[in-house]
Amino acid sequence: MANVTFSSPVMPRDITVYAVAGSRVTLLSLAKSHKIPIPCDCQDGECGSCIVEVKNYTKNTRDGVTLTNKEREVLLQLGKITKEELKDMACHDLPPRHRLACQCLVRNEDILVTFEGDTTLP
Ligand code: FES
Repeated sequence: MANVTFSSPVMPRDITVYAVAGSRVTLLSLAKSHKIPIPCDCQDGECGSCIVEVKNYTKNTRDGVTLTNKEREVLLQLGKITKEELKDMACHDLPPRHRLACQCLVRNEDILVTFEGDTTLP
């Protein structure tokens, strides 16, 4: 069981939901099932509209994960991966701070997911 807290200026308050780790649920599908308005377009790791920042609540170390080439390329194009994160990804499979919600699977860890959203919506 993982606690996933979503936070955004477009939401009146933070929302924490529970997810079953290992069920291959993406952050985007988890958000959608709880009506959390993470922007999305392609839902296939190509447009970058679903970019989020992920912070681990409970651990000082991140678990290793390999990003798909598609996600890695989009994050690079958006300038959302630092040189340090590139090194961590290459050497230790450590995920960068920013992820694409449609590509990021929920794992057995408590995380804070922040996103900007569309602040022009009513
Ligand atoms: Fe397009 Fe996630 S919705 S990259």
